[in-house]
Amino acid sequence: MKIQQHGTKLPSVSDYFSATQLRADRWSALRETAESMLVHGVEGRQGGRLLKTAEALFEALAPIELYWAFPGIRAFEHLQRLLEQRSIEDLSISVRRVARALTSGAYRRRTIPIGGDEADNEDYEDESALAPEDRALGRPYFEVLIVDNVNEHQERFLRNNLHRMRRPEDPFIYEPVIVPSLEDALMGILFNYNVQAVIVRPGLVLKSKNVLPIIEQYLHRLNQDEDVDALQPYEYGPEACRLIAKVRPELDAYLITDRSVEDIAGLDLGRCRRVFYNQEDFLELHLNILRGVNRRYKTPFFTALKEYSKQPTGVFHAMPISRGKSISRSHWIQDMGAFYGPNIFLAETSATSGGLDSLLEPRGPIKEAQDMAARAFGAKQTFFATNGTSTCNKIVVQALVRPGDIVLVDRDCHKSHHYGMVLAGANVVYMDSYPLHEYSMYGAVPINEIKHTLLKLKAAGKLDKVRMVLLTNCTFDGLVYNVERVMEECLAIKKDLIFLWDEAWFAFARFSPAYRQRTAMSVANTLRERLQEAAHAAAYEAQQEQLKDANEETWLNTRLIPPPDARVRAYSTQSTHKTLTSLRQGSMIHVNDMDFKGEVEQAFHEAYMTHTSTSPNYQIIASLDVGRRQVELEGFEFVQRQVESAMAIRRAVQTHPLLRKYFKVLTPSDMIPDEYRESGVQTYYDVHEGWSDKWEIWAQDEFVLDPTRVTLAVGGTGWDGDTFKTKILMDKYGIQINKTSRNSVLFMTNIGTTRSSVAYLIEVLVEVAKELDDLLDDASKMERRSFEKRVAALVEHVPPLPDFSRFHDAFRTGHETPEGDIRSAFFLAYNEDNCDYFDLDDALMARLEAGEEMVSASFIIPYPPGFPILVPGQVISPEILSFMRALDVSEIHGFRPDLGLRVFTEAALKKQSKRKM
Ligand SMILES: Cc1ncc(COP(=O)(O)O)c(C=O)c1O
Repeated sequence: MKIQQHGTKLPSVSDYFSATQLRADRWSALRETAESMLVHGVEGRQGGRLLKTAEALFEALAPIELYWAFPGIRAFEHLQRLLEQRSIEDLSISVRRVARALTSGAYRRRTIPIGGDEADNEDYEDESALAPEDRALGRPYFEVLIVDNVNEHQERFLRNNLHRMRRPEDPFIYEPVIVPSLEDALMGILFNYNVQAVIVRPGLVLKSKNVLPIIEQYLHRLNQDEDVDALQPYEYGPEACRLIAKVRPELDAYLITDRSVEDIAGLDLGRCRRVFYNQEDFLELHLNILRGVNRRYKTPFFTALKEYSKQPTGVFHAMPISRGKSISRSHWIQDMGAFYGPNIFLAETSATSGGLDSLLEPRGPIKEAQDMAARAFGAKQTFFATNGTSTCNKIVVQALVRPGDIVLVDRDCHKSHHYGMVLAGANVVYMDSYPLHEYSMYGAVPINEIKHTLLKLKAAGKLDKVRMVLLTNCTFDGLVYNVERVMEECLAIKKDLIFLWDEAWFAFARFSPAYRQRTAMSVANTLRERLQEAAHAAAYEAQQEQLKDANEETWLNTRLIPPPDARVRAYSTQSTHKTLTSLRQGSMIHVNDMDFKGEVEQAFHEAYMTHTSTSPNYQIIASLDVGRRQVELEGFEFVQRQVESAMAIRRAVQTHPLLRKYFKVLTPSDMIPDEYRESGVQTYYDVHEGWSDKWEIWAQDEFVLDPTRVTLAVGGTGWDGDTFKTKILMDKYGIQINKTSRNSVLFMTNIGTTRSSVAYLIEVLVEVAKELDDLLDDASKMERRSFEKRVAALVEHVPPLPDFSRFHDAFRTGHETPEGDIRSAFFLAYNEDNCDYFDLDDALMARLEAGEEMVSASFIIPYPPGFPILVPGQVISPEILSFMRALDVSEIHGFRPDLGLRVFTEAALKKQSKRKM
């Protein structure tokens, strides 16, 4: 429904990704309309139009307000009545109060007077102006969703009873929201990010009177898995608990029932924390609600560090900076103390006792913090790292890969994996991602490429050597695998395969239901359950029958089912610092491996010791602990906002005529070929259709594009990606971005992105486009031609990306399969006598084209694209040389233009071949 306001169209639900922003915008619109009515009255044509707008806004807000405690549906109805009675002055004051309290969050800290005489009292503080310390000292606020089909009288009874339980010593404060049905409960937890606990009472019904289009996709998806309509009324409660756990697993659910213990005992209740048999024991319920939230609020290590910093200690070992002593006594470095403030130095220590803990052998608060992180991220074990995911990747690879093991790796993965392979002595099979030549970037590895590689190794009798599949999810550019499909199909070929998912960019994904289904930990948990189901075993047997004499083609074209005795072995590494709250280098390793305890634990410990500093930074560990608290309590809200911000950028560039002239936001159809996009969805935002049905895309497509990664094609401006990043965005406007390609730049929104920063970015892009327009308006014919040539060079003449060629025979263990011993090649190059250098000239090209084999002695990593186009031991193909020659980037790691390309001498290769035999 589009709502008219002053003759202009207001956005409808389909223009929004989430209902949260929609709600905020509608309240602002209502405030503006009420104020206009106060000025212009409600008579005449203009007044009539304003009235209509106000009525439409009330109508549009009504179904959403049901799910929020503030202002609450009763207060909302009161406002509606003010409009009906044409009490415009009262309405205007009250709506202003509500809108301001919603924007500032004041309702979280105190009761907002909405109507009556109190409405005259205007002098309440602006919450955003509160000092951070004052905010930190306030009691955190949340909402409790009560699911029960009650009348108004019973509702008041419930509400009053819970309010009466409040005690001054309560650590939090909460307000109840009461909804009647299971469907409303789901809408409530999806709409209202303030909800931290749900109380499911026996009176709930199944259906909502209020199904909103934005929510239908979720209900549809959940109903696909569960036959909710077939439930008996006594099953509604348990089913509600189960579904809540699926949508927002971090929430506490409490089931109140009048069924017998035996009836309930056999049912799956999701993450239901307690079952109550006495409906009216409000104190018990109140204490449980607070305890449940406190379980997530607790930060064992951060708290221990704060406590430690308060204790008086004398330092008679390392760290003169601890307690700020070396600074406070200094004549020259006082400014450091002034800049950081005292607490950081009070918390700097090398002690591992006195309430603190050791990261290398955690038994106290670090252990507890890691266990809580495991719970939050759906892992069985979680390990903190204070030196980034670069280190996490090496730890996992070293712990699991033995010398000679075969590992399948996406070639454009982060360099830490390549170095990890060298250290572990793996035999590496590099798999190619599909290329996006037009934008000079890679996509991701198609499932058929992975299956084909595994089947080839199987045919060569080498499957027992294959240990691990290592993939980047999501990629830097935002391509997300169908993790479930990859794991299932690979396990169908080798049932104990280990998966390392590099989720350096994906820690936030756990906290949005659509994203979550594509995370390693979530899929591992789903698979563990599925493998135990009788229906799964039957489906597996039936497929085996069909595949009895099948050829490779059939295996490739069949969605393979893993055997029921497959082992689920998944690891994920996450740069918490990249996408969540953590100091730089704060990362986590999450483990969900059925064989971890039996087979891996000791080796993991050794690998952890190999790579972890004996002086890990406590501030980083504390920030990981706090970052975990945040996502468990407000990850859902923040990720929703992050997506909303990205969608706002997409919408602005797509609809602004000037921006469309020079820029293009790449859509899923630009970055994912049709064959990997089963949903057929082309774009996330369409001027006519609004947002696409995102949930469906995430559920089925082989690859999806993470909408929070906004790749902007800038070739149309005549600047290459790197120049646009540094000369325009950074130097001129102070906008920081990270990744560029030849003709694109990547904007990422994160949980810290604000609406204002998005607005600033759009402003800047519009200004850049305007300046270009002005420049071209006044340009001479020659200048214009020069601009067009630059654009053509960036957009049309892009050097094709080369595939991985192959390892030289001297580093291979067989001819029929591609794996290579990268470690031998790496160390062979340590002896300079084994290496030679060649210029990237025509003579070299002629030699390669004549069939001469030249083998790289180094990693060659150009930025962008930022991954090796050559690794040690790899044969240099003419295509790779062409690409290198066409590259116009200034940064190529591993290549020294003054010396040339570093290759192995023929003698060295011969020696290596002999050694191998
Ligand atoms: C895919 C991927 N993995 C790992 C890393 C390394 O992460 P960190 O910077 O936390 O060491 C990066 C860094 O950009 C990355 O892009």
